[in-house]
Amino acid sequence: MSLFGKMFGEKEGAEERSYPLDAGLVAFFTQDHRNCDLDWTDLESSLESGEKDLIIAKWKAFDGGLRRHFDMEEKEFFPQFEQVTGMTNGGPTFVMKMEHTQMRGVLDQMQVLVDDGNYEEVRNQGDTLLMLIQQHNVKEEGMLYPMSEQHLSGKWDQIKAKLETYIKPE
Ligand SMILES: [Fe+2]
Ligand SMILES: [Fe+2]
Repeated sequence: MSLFGKMFGEKEGAEERSYPLDAGLVAFFTQDHRNCDLDWTDLESSLESGEKDLIIAKWKAFDGGLRRHFDMEEKEFFPQFEQVTGMTNGGPTFVMKMEHTQMRGVLDQMQVLVDDGNYEEVRNQGDTLLMLIQQHNVKEEGMLYPMSEQHLSGKWDQIKAKLETYIKPE
């Protein structure tokens, strides 16, 4: 369980990963935030175990899942929002993309630490990253997603078809 999971009183084991595309934009992207939180929880547990192979597997899942989330937003969702609303530079998606860049930078640093086997520092950087993720997700879930669901209701089927290609099992 993540630091923020504990802070916000989530129940341990109460959640599962899922991809509710049919439930709409808010439901899908909000649930994918939870999916990424679960990946972090798994990584955190593996770091405590100290088992190298397990840590590497859980790291790949967490890193890949978060980068995929950013890609789904930046390539399939944000351009549609920008087209429909005309809000581009300086708008909400512009700010979100800057934050993604910052978080990808932390992932890059964590990759080096994982490669070096410096698991204590992976955990510390992970706590920093989780704080950035939490602040970011609050903005998306509180404002951008609900606003977008309204604006993009007519385009959701089209966006959904693209998103399906990201979440197909490997
Ligand atoms: Fe985002
Ligand atoms: Fe997001």
